[in-house]
Amino acid sequence: MTGRPAADMVGTANHWRIFYEVERPTMADLIVDGAPRDQLTNLYRNKRLTRSPVVAGAFEAEDYFPFLGDGGCWLYFTAAPLTDAKGQVIGAIETLQDVSERHRAEDALLRHQTELEQLVTKRTGELAQAQEQLMQSEKLASIGQLAAGVAHEINNPIGFLQSNMKSLQGYFEQLLRVMEHFELNPELAASADEACTRWLEEVAALKAEVDFDYLKTDIPVLLAESLEGIVRVRRIVQDLRDFSRIDSGQNWEWVDLRTGLDSTLNIVNNEIKYRAEVVKEYADIPQVECLPPQLNQVFMNLMVNAAQAMPEGRRGTITLRCGSNGQEVWVEVADSGEGIPEENLRRIFDPFFTTKPVGKGTGLGLSLSYGIVKKHGGRIEVDSTVGVGTRFRVIVPIQRSSGGS
Ligand SMILES: Nc1ncnc2c1ncn2[C@@H]1O[C@H](COP(=O)(O)OP(=O)(O)OP(=O)(O)O)[C@@H](O)[C@H]1O
Ligand SMILES: [Mg+2]
Repeated sequence: MTGRPAADMVGTANHWRIFYEVERPTMADLIVDGAPRDQLTNLYRNKRLTRSPVVAGAFEAEDYFPFLGDGGCWLYFTAAPLTDAKGQVIGAIETLQDVSERHRAEDALLRHQTELEQLVTKRTGELAQAQEQLMQSEKLASIGQLAAGVAHEINNPIGFLQSNMKSLQGYFEQLLRVMEHFELNPELAASADEACTRWLEEVAALKAEVDFDYLKTDIPVLLAESLEGIVRVRRIVQDLRDFSRIDSGQNWEWVDLRTGLDSTLNIVNNEIKYRAEVVKEYADIPQVECLPPQLNQVFMNLMVNAAQAMPEGRRGTITLRCGSNGQEVWVEVADSGEGIPEENLRRIFDPFFTTKPVGKGTGLGLSLSYGIVKKHGGRIEVDSTVGVGTRFRVIVPIQRSSGGS
């Protein structure tokens, strides 16, 4: 086991040399010398030192010997006292057993266990992240549903307001025609009798009192403006419904992505309009089989990111483009913003990666978008130059692959 001839040890006082570089007692030496217990414990600290359960005065331990065998080995050794008839210790027997194999197995097991624990920690983290994402997308979905619900409710009253306003416009013109008839006619006034003249003068005084000429010009303006307002509200309501498509739920549908881009743009326009001018460069594209509210969510994230990338105090440009190659349709949101540094590019799709101040960004926009586009069997490409701008391109297959979720 030691790989050394017995002569190196037997009958010499150099038996320790086989095991140690510097002279020190072996366990058998300690027992023969009746060494106190704490000397034993000191020399075999952390070496699994125990009293033998079967032989009185015997000890067991385990240690690693780097110079033994082929590149070191683990030994389990026990040393038991030899006593004479009077119970005097006259010698000791030490037995050695090579337990390297067991130690290797133990090490492997420990390594395996550590790896397993690390894996569990990693998976738990991933699970927590996935749950967070799910909660976020559920939140967005329920906000979308709420908005669409409100939009639906508003739709009806706005509808009759619009039609009533149109009627009012017509009625007012007719009313005006009648009123114009009451203009003071000088010829008639000259030939009228006294009562009639007084009555005509009263009408003229009343008209002056209410500033009839002003009303005549202002009422049509007010009516036209109100009607325009109503038309705008109707469009917002329609956009909200298109955006979340409450009527369709989460169904795969064939839609023109330009409609989605426009309705989404109208919804986030408030956030965008002070920071950037929006330019549309739409090509003709075929309809795409998709989950419209979810793709709209992607467009919204990209548009808001683009607007937020504009340096403070300088209005930039956001360009929306789309196109198709017959198999896929792509939508691009390009901005003239600050750009993304190389070292961040790899991380922007990571959940919770954000460079925005607390409260401004959670870092979920792009990771959610990535998941949605993936679900459509598509991909997102990014191209960015610091100080020049960024271009995100969403590419989705025209037809959902049969294996798609
Ligand atoms: N158009 C862009 N221009 C410059 N940087 C961008 C652009 N889009 C994304 N980024 C970078 O990627 C990061 C992650 O974007 P993401 O949309 O995932 O999160 P966020 O915008 O920070 O927060 P959230 O969207 O959750 O409100 C941003 O913080 C920003 O650093
Ligand atoms: Mg974002």
